[in-house]
Amino acid sequence: MTHASHYAAPVLARTREELAAALACDAAPRAVVMTMGALHQGHFDLVAEAARRVGPDGTVVVTIFVNPLQFAAGEDLDTYPRSLEADVVGISATLAREDGTPAVGRLVVFAPTPEVMYPDGEPSVRLDPGPAATVLEGRTRPTHFAGVLQVVLTLMHLTQPRWALFGRKDAQQLAVVSAMVRDLAVPVEIVPVDIRREPDGLAMSSRNVYLSAEQRQQALALSRALGAGREAAAAGADAAGVRAAALEVLAAAPGVEVDYVAVVDPLSFTERAGAGLGLAPAGGEAAVATRGEVLLAVAARLGTTRLIDNTLLTLG
Ligand code: PAF
Repeated sequence: MTHASHYAAPVLARTREELAAALACDAAPRAVVMTMGALHQGHFDLVAEAARRVGPDGTVVVTIFVNPLQFAAGEDLDTYPRSLEADVVGISATLAREDGTPAVGRLVVFAPTPEVMYPDGEPSVRLDPGPAATVLEGRTRPTHFAGVLQVVLTLMHLTQPRWALFGRKDAQQLAVVSAMVRDLAVPVEIVPVDIRREPDGLAMSSRNVYLSAEQRQQALALSRALGAGREAAAAGADAAGVRAAALEVLAAAPGVEVDYVAVVDPLSFTERAGAGLGLAPAGGEAAVATRGEVLLAVAARLGTTRLIDNTLLTLG
């Protein structure tokens, strides 16, 4: 029997009942990719990795939901790009082999409305994402990670995957979700997937569509700053030196308003460069890292669009 012969066309589930029906009696290995839609190659990399994990008979579930709980008043909830039909086409194409046969047994796309996700309105039981969520992104967006965890845990319960894939681009989200899974003993393996970049280095993001042509060029300063940080690390700089090298590039870039340039521990988000960013480390003097793996993270505004990017670095 070929895989094509037992492949069901993508199932689009709009309600919890449709999702439950689509997953009922499905004992195949299952992975979930959670998204807010407006999918780009970075998302499709997550889908492709999900397919590799589940294998030719497995099930890939992609959720598409612009989660109101992770947007604060005044953020882009209403204007966030939405493109469900194109998203489903892109996911299906990602899961097609060269000969047109599908690489997995089943694809289920869950695209609920807010009423389906939160049938009783604002959930009364909330999750506290902990200290790592209070710095960097969490400082600018204090309610963001609690909203992310609320939807991620709910989607994990609804889709019951073995694996959940998250991009390294949202490094702090990855850390906070990983901590939730660890601390609440959620039986799901978190799989990080590398950042996908445009050929000129800009990290792919659904929000890149907001940039004007000029801002699109100016935005390259983010990846250039990371490159400067990497070069400094390769030349033997400590965390403070890496941060200074990245900040110099970003601060000099026209049209770019720096939000932060930080060097932190990739899991705990404790400060490593002694710059007052990240969480205060217990170690005092040891804050300035000279060795080991660190995360160099940057955030900047181009007009009204806020972009983030990061890279993992090994010091010493
Ligand atoms: O990374 C995202 O797109 C969102 O934060 C997520 C994980 C889908 C939760 O809404």
